[in-house]
Amino acid sequence: MQQDMIVILDLGSEQNAQLAREIRALGVYSEIHPHDIAPEALKALPNVRGIILNGGRNRCVDGRDVDVTPEIYALGIPVISADHPASKAAVKLDAWPEDRAERAACLSEFLFETCGAQKNWNMDNFIADQIELIRAQVGNGKVLLALSGGVDSSVVAALLIRAIGNRLTCVHVNHGLLRKGEPEQVVRVFREELGANLIYVDAVDRFLDKLAGVAEPETKRRIIGGEFIRVFEEEARKLEGISFLGQGTIYPDIIESGTKTQKSIKAHHNVGGLPDDLQFELVEPLKMLFKDEVRAVGKALGLPDSMVYRQPFPGPGLGVRCVGAITRDRLEAVRESDAILREEFDKAGLAGKVWQYFTIVPDIKSTGVKDNKRAFEWPVVLRAVNTVDAMTATIEEIPWPVLHKVTERITHEVKGVNRVLYDLTPKPTGTIEWE
Ligand code: XMP
Repeated sequence: MQQDMIVILDLGSEQNAQLAREIRALGVYSEIHPHDIAPEALKALPNVRGIILNGGRNRCVDGRDVDVTPEIYALGIPVISADHPASKAAVKLDAWPEDRAERAACLSEFLFETCGAQKNWNMDNFIADQIELIRAQVGNGKVLLALSGGVDSSVVAALLIRAIGNRLTCVHVNHGLLRKGEPEQVVRVFREELGANLIYVDAVDRFLDKLAGVAEPETKRRIIGGEFIRVFEEEARKLEGISFLGQGTIYPDIIESGTKTQKSIKAHHNVGGLPDDLQFELVEPLKMLFKDEVRAVGKALGLPDSMVYRQPFPGPGLGVRCVGAITRDRLEAVRESDAILREEFDKAGLAGKVWQYFTIVPDIKSTGVKDNKRAFEWPVVLRAVNTVDAMTATIEEIPWPVLHKVTERITHEVKGVNRVLYDLTPKPTGTIEWE
């Protein structure tokens, strides 16, 4: 490992992730660990230059007062403490300064003066380290990866290709619910440009047949998730000698599913749920990265911007935007209108400024006029939201000319659509997706 590290011990603060990001922004790698980490385990972490005891105002974890073992102060590593009573051996702050610049100055003094840390956290060093670590873990073995085309799985794929080349097998399952041009892009970038060993599975009919007539949203999700695992499992069984499974787990997944304080917000299953007789050791090279760092790694590995900076896209894909029971023609209306919306947002310079934007086609029809004839057709609903964490969201004020242009194009270019509506509902009360 090339990077110096600052360890944050979680003493109940809700700001651990933010603090880790602030330290990394200053050029020093940082990890969050539980307050009761064994001193030997802490000592075994590579290149620890400093320890931060990060207590919230309450300094309590799961309702109990907590403290670190005094042995922490005897490791010979500088300790800083904020909002937390600490031994005389520690640099003590009453609280973190509120002001960003003051916080950065205070952190810089600790990192560089007190700890003598090197400013060596950058994506090139990260990539070099991970290639070494992946090679050490995998040896001569083979790795399997479900490559959805999303940011995380794409970056893992690119990194694994660098590290082990054709001993990585990527499986891209096209379930028919991907956006326009997405499966083609995955094949082009990974198979043709990066020379990956890529298995492309056209499972469109299989998924759409299973979903036919199913209107209940959670049942739709379960079918899509369950079928995905079955298809992936079938492909895995055809291959021989694979003992590792690559996964695009990232740091927020780990923080969310719990250091001690952070309550488990959601269980994360990437390709969880594989049968027991298919046992793989996991390779998770991004598990210590925040999303913006994952993007920076993807960029450094040569992935196209359209893959690295793409907006979030739910696992069940367009399936949750084709409201109610999915039909092929209405699904095409979702896919085509989504492509138009994305194209017009790109042209208007809104891509990258709006967090998530897409179209929904509900299962209703209204009367309209097309070519002087009555047209009883679907409406397309536009949704464009901004958010920090997807827990709440606000509505983006899209300029009228953009809305007009999108409406004009969708009603003329998308088959079966005669109206366009704009969803003005923030979250709450609406969720971001309609299902
Ligand atoms: P909601 O609709 O809950 O969405 O406000 C919040 C964010 O999560 C995404 N989303 C999903 N992502 N599987 C996913 O991987 C899902 O089933 C799913 N449902 C919603 C949604 O696109 C938004 O970014």
